[in-house]
Amino acid sequence: MRRRPILVINFGSQYVQLIARRIRELGIYSEILNWDAPVEELKKREPYGIILSGGPASVYTKEAPLPSEDIYNLGVPVLGICYGLQVIAYQLGGKVKPAEHQEYGRARLRVLKNDRIFESIPQEFDVWMSHADKVEELPPGFETLAVSENSPHAVIASKDRGVYGFQFHPEVVHTSYGKELLANFAYGVCGAQRNWEMGNFIEEKVREIRSVVGVSHVISALSGGVDSTVASVLVHKAVGDRLHCFFIDHGLLRLREREEVERNLRSLGLPLKVVDASRLFLERLKGVEDPERKRKIIGETFVEVFEREAKKVKGAKFLLQGTLYPDVVESAGIKGSAKIKTHHNVGGLPEKMHLRLLEPFRELFKDEVRKLGKLLGVPDEILRRHPFPGPGLAVRILGEVTQEDLEILRRADHIFIEELKKAGLYDRVWQAFAVLLPIKSVGVMGDVRTYEKVVALRAVESTDGMTADWYRFPYDFLDKVMRRIINEVRGVGRVVYDISSKPPSTIEWE
Ligand code: XMP
Repeated sequence: MRRRPILVINFGSQYVQLIARRIRELGIYSEILNWDAPVEELKKREPYGIILSGGPASVYTKEAPLPSEDIYNLGVPVLGICYGLQVIAYQLGGKVKPAEHQEYGRARLRVLKNDRIFESIPQEFDVWMSHADKVEELPPGFETLAVSENSPHAVIASKDRGVYGFQFHPEVVHTSYGKELLANFAYGVCGAQRNWEMGNFIEEKVREIRSVVGVSHVISALSGGVDSTVASVLVHKAVGDRLHCFFIDHGLLRLREREEVERNLRSLGLPLKVVDASRLFLERLKGVEDPERKRKIIGETFVEVFEREAKKVKGAKFLLQGTLYPDVVESAGIKGSAKIKTHHNVGGLPEKMHLRLLEPFRELFKDEVRKLGKLLGVPDEILRRHPFPGPGLAVRILGEVTQEDLEILRRADHIFIEELKKAGLYDRVWQAFAVLLPIKSVGVMGDVRTYEKVVALRAVESTDGMTADWYRFPYDFLDKVMRRIINEVRGVGRVVYDISSKPPSTIEWE
């Protein structure tokens, strides 16, 4: 079904996806297009309105990204946010200059003139600013509706044309009434209709999947994580047992993970085959120390095992993938298909086996997949799971992967996660895990000198895995985990906590 969107034009802001998510949270479909998308692309979508995102550039420089000026003649309202406001001011005949006082962080906004954009919002409130340029002179036909201390034109508008500009970021939580401002733009100014709801999405997708797949069969590589599980449940609803799910145990899973995943997936009624290929993977990893070589071996072996299994399915024409909207936006910009990620997305297989990709979540953000999962009855335990890398524990045992080290790491990791859950901290962190270091360290237990392995604990906060900061645990919590690991896991004599952020470090150690 075609839905009229509010389009978000991307000028490179780190918040661009957040703007689209906020609009969707209001119940209106939103799509992101690159700033250089031809106007026909915008027109074709019959948008309710257009939002110009922020971005790092300055409009008066040669390399500044500027959209076609035809977007102001499409007859739909336009809202510019931060750099977007400056684009509007610049293109419609105003002046933008570097500000004497840059404005970063919290600022107090004061409304000068009432307008429908401020409907049900107080005359003064806090907003989040982040800009080095400012509007010096308004374009003809524009007026200033609000100011802040350092922005004499913090909200501008040409009411007749329905063109608005915010110098601050309504999409971030630090702006009070940010959601209300976006709602006033979307519903009040653009006259958008509610058209985005996960319950309807399920019904529509099920219909669409049925008509695309016809009587063919679909194969799916399940990892037990959120995306592949929810995607499989949705497709199962559409095509029943013509869906064939495979869970491949590469021997690099966490303690009792295979059993847990299997139990969870079976409880959802998914037609599942569990393939134990751990011996093959571990044999091929013997003596391999380089992280990228480990990844490559695991990736290739995964495809090989999966292909062998998938070939047995007669009539298989589709491969299910949990590709999300951020992958589509990042890798393809406007059109084209998503880049296939690392091996766990079975790269290369579709061409080799002449399979078509089925990607029911190409339009969705992760939090929408979680919502969908909840509506489809997927247990919280799966929906809340921390991300786990495709190569599994192989990238958490630095250097060669051995059976003995896998046992040690599994037990240490399990204690850490168990304590996290007990302390109610599991949902506070993006990811938490233990890492086994390839060094030994001296210790003393009883009266005996020991020389044993070192375990590093890692726990980070993040919103997308692109940047991350270490989680500030209470000391007592770390103390308890350390004690349990050293007492209960034979072979570990020292526990350290990793306090590196990303960047410059990565989340994983390899
Ligand atoms: P880094 O270590 O790059 O990790 O900061 C960012 C996120 O990606 C996960 N990760 C991987 N996932 N295959 C995967 O499927 C991989 O090879 C891989 N390496 C890292 C990591 O766990 C984190 O969530």
